[in-house]
Amino acid sequence: MQKITIHGGQKLSGTITISGAKNSAVALIPASVLCDEQTTIFNVPNISDTDALKEILSYLNAKIVQEKDTMVIDSSNIINKEIPESISKKLRASYYFMGALLGKYKKVSMYFPGGCPIGERPINLHLKAFEMLGAKVTNEGNKYTVEAEELKGTEIYLDFASVGATINIILAAVKATGVTTIENAAKEPEIVNVATFLNNMGAKITGAGTSKIKIKGVKKLHSCVHEVIPDRIEAGTYMIAGALLGENLKIANVIPEHVEALTSKLKDIGVDIKEGTDYFIINKVNKLKSTNIKTLIYPGFPTDLQQPITTLLTQCEGKSKIKETIWENRFLNTEYLNLMGAKIETKNDTAVISGPTPLKGCEVKATDLRAGACLVLAGLIAEGITTITNVEHILRGYDQIIQKLTNVGAKIELN
Ligand code: EPZ
Repeated sequence: MQKITIHGGQKLSGTITISGAKNSAVALIPASVLCDEQTTIFNVPNISDTDALKEILSYLNAKIVQEKDTMVIDSSNIINKEIPESISKKLRASYYFMGALLGKYKKVSMYFPGGCPIGERPINLHLKAFEMLGAKVTNEGNKYTVEAEELKGTEIYLDFASVGATINIILAAVKATGVTTIENAAKEPEIVNVATFLNNMGAKITGAGTSKIKIKGVKKLHSCVHEVIPDRIEAGTYMIAGALLGENLKIANVIPEHVEALTSKLKDIGVDIKEGTDYFIINKVNKLKSTNIKTLIYPGFPTDLQQPITTLLTQCEGKSKIKETIWENRFLNTEYLNLMGAKIETKNDTAVISGPTPLKGCEVKATDLRAGACLVLAGLIAEGITTITNVEHILRGYDQIIQKLTNVGAKIELN
């Protein structure tokens, strides 16, 4: 099993360039199945999640050519067969093949998706929406078969503004008969990125990025090229690294609007942050103030930055409070931060962090993707050496994290 080793205390100076968004790429790649010709996607991040999705595409007989961060996918000869559990459980986003294959072939058979152990992660909203579009859902154990004589546009109200369900409904509805409306849709930027990709193919989607999305079914989707937006969660993670250790640390290739909730919190804490058109320059300051954070759907504070910012809060004067409203099990990182010297108490959906506390390097475990990112940040500021195990969680979602941090002065290795 690979480990990450970090010698803490190194200042971070120079430029980190942000890659394409994981949570957009993992939807765009399955969405390419809907096209009847070839699609080209630029700025695809080099992470194991995209590798797993390529494996599923190849299994379905799609032709993929990847040159660095450009992926060319030809879905014209796909064979729509059952996707085995061995590959569908590798990541949560494999469930986008449900919407895409149902949308194109009116049938899909696959297993319950994988993903980080941050909660029960049901897919009831996805399946209910498929049924509302006219599909029949059957499941044996955790194998799901969804099929329809015809997919007919309808009005769907989401009980929760689910990112995955919003995208999966769009994928299933783009070739349905008539108009589908999604009320209480998620508004994340990744949804806009997917809708734009499909519209570039000839789909008729309006309202993406708002809570009401309309999809008018079309017969054919033609070839197109598209680009993955910058990863706002990767950007936020490195912005927090800058707040901890930055000496003119530049975070380049970002869309500032996508990280507004974080930028506002960093300013509340007293971080020295300068914003450019597509970059931030961040400097560590000596005195950081505690603050309170409540995770919310976009554009609120993103749950995916809750664990990374916890490391920063351990360095803030006083008591900070985090309320995690999206996932029921997203404090697994706090046990390891406390092992390093933090003072964090958690109860149900709330964590209270007392600071500042010096952190000391030791062996810790990445329990999930963003918990792993939190521990990398902790290792960067800890005294001595921090060793992180289960690093496959981290490599799933952070493109070239070792190289990017080494380039700005961190002493970090993967071995
Ligand atoms: C996406 O997960 C992201 N993953 C998650 O990022 C992110 O935390 C989450 O959105 C919220 O922003 C990808 O995009 C691949 P949801 P998703 O459906 O779509 C409940 C990361 O670190 N729910 O918006 O699975 C669910 O239990 C990952 O990059 C249902 O109840 O999230 C949760 O409480 C982690 N039934 C809430 O909605 C459903 O059918 C949010 O889930 C679906 C969801």
